[in-house]
Amino acid sequence: MFQSLNGSVSQAAQIIANGTTNCVKIHDLQVSDFTKCALSSYDSEFLAFGSPTVYEQMTPLVEGAIQYLKGLHLIKGRKVILFGSFCWLDKAVNQMKKMIEQAGGVVVAEITFKMAVDSKTTQQILESLKLLV
Ligand SMILES: Cc1cc2nc3c(=O)[nH]c(=O)nc-3n(C[C@H](O)[C@H](O)[C@H](O)COP(=O)(O)O)c2cc1C
Repeated sequence: MFQSLNGSVSQAAQIIANGTTNCVKIHDLQVSDFTKCALSSYDSEFLAFGSPTVYEQMTPLVEGAIQYLKGLHLIKGRKVILFGSFCWLDKAVNQMKKMIEQAGGVVVAEITFKMAVDSKTTQQILESLKLLV
């Protein structure tokens, strides 16, 4: 699940989806909705959340999705990858981490990148997927 303004977080989400042989359901929160996210999460082994830092916060849609899934106990016990884009200081990933841990999720990777996904970020994402098995 992710929200993206200019596309870099969306690009990272695509790398996650393409980087595993597992069946991955990808939700762009600007076109999907929380109920669809919940249905996908219900039988998922792992979850991934992505957000840019906007006004020193994760985006409201990502915050809402985490809150919604937490309420349905769909985060507890699951492995979670977090990823986020920023320009000068990441805040989104740290905030997501706190919420996920409060919900009982296990954060296995935190990937932050400045404005754009480069080859190093791509490598980090692919490495993080190995932690899910
Ligand atoms: C309205 C707005 C507010 C932003 N606020 C922050 C901020 O507080 N801290 C920061 O490091 N970057 C900030 N940025 C930069 C974005 O985090 C950065 O452009 C990021 O790469 C956007 O991700 P995206 O390409 O997935 O949309 C802001 C960008 C916009 C458009």
